[in-house]
Amino acid sequence: MQLGDLLEKGLSWLHYVWDSKTKYKIHSPFVFNFDTKVLENDFIYPEYKSIEKFRKGLAKNQTVLNVTDLGAGSKSLESSKRTVAEILETSTKKPKYSQLQFRIVRYFQSKKILELGTSLGITTAYLSKASNEGQIYTIEGCPEIAAKAKQHFEQLELHNIIQKNGNFDDILGEVLNEMGSVDMVFFDGNHKHIPTVNYFEQVLPYCHNDTVLIFDDIYWSEEMEEAWAFIKNHERITLTIDIFEMGLAFLRKESLAKEHFRVWY
Ligand SMILES: C[S@@+](CC[C@H](N)C(=O)[O-])C[C@H]1O[C@@H](n2cnc3c(N)ncnc32)[C@H](O)[C@@H]1O
Repeated sequence: MQLGDLLEKGLSWLHYVWDSKTKYKIHSPFVFNFDTKVLENDFIYPEYKSIEKFRKGLAKNQTVLNVTDLGAGSKSLESSKRTVAEILETSTKKPKYSQLQFRIVRYFQSKKILELGTSLGITTAYLSKASNEGQIYTIEGCPEIAAKAKQHFEQLELHNIIQKNGNFDDILGEVLNEMGSVDMVFFDGNHKHIPTVNYFEQVLPYCHNDTVLIFDDIYWSEEMEEAWAFIKNHERITLTIDIFEMGLAFLRKESLAKEHFRVWY
């Protein structure tokens, strides 16, 4: 990560620590319930165990992959050859956040789920286990990483994942057409301003009142902060929840006035 971005992120973190609220100061019943039942839910679901055991195995995996970087991917590793263990360390969400997504899917009972950026498939596995009757579409542009993720889904015996391989820019439209509508979307690839906004706008016509949009790394760079500001201000977004590492955007008509919450997580 460049020094400028690191300092910027540190500053944003301090703002977040200062600004973010705990449930005692949240006046919206929707956000209060979300905080209590999802963010603060520290129950260890049995589904977590097999995925975390699998992650531990990947942390020792020295298989070298040829990485095709299609987005503002890794700021720390420039080489196009990386081991599985390195990809796991730099690109995969930590358990705290993948498990949060598991609980989000369970809470909103999301069934049509789309992930932009599969990587090794760890979060995809959580999404899959959270919704047995759901369909998890996941897009990955690097062929060798996508092939590895495919193996992982087979090893974990996950059967509700539909893998799409290609650049989001080229295939997002056709994937959305195939899905028809989306209940939850996790934007976790190509952390640049304009592409993030474009993907968001492409997804919007497929959203409904209860769709949850999750944007990863909203303070990763100035560009991502700009993208998040655009999303917050968009006319179809009525409520946002900022937990620093991720931003959640909702289109609920029940929220009469636009509201933005920063919630401690
Ligand atoms: C941060 S990783 C995804 C991590 C994963 N969601 C998880 O939680 O474990 C981002 C992935 O998106 C892929 N990616 C980035 N830009 C892309 C693009 N324009 N089209 C397709 N894939 C892309 C990268 O190859 C990388 O594997």
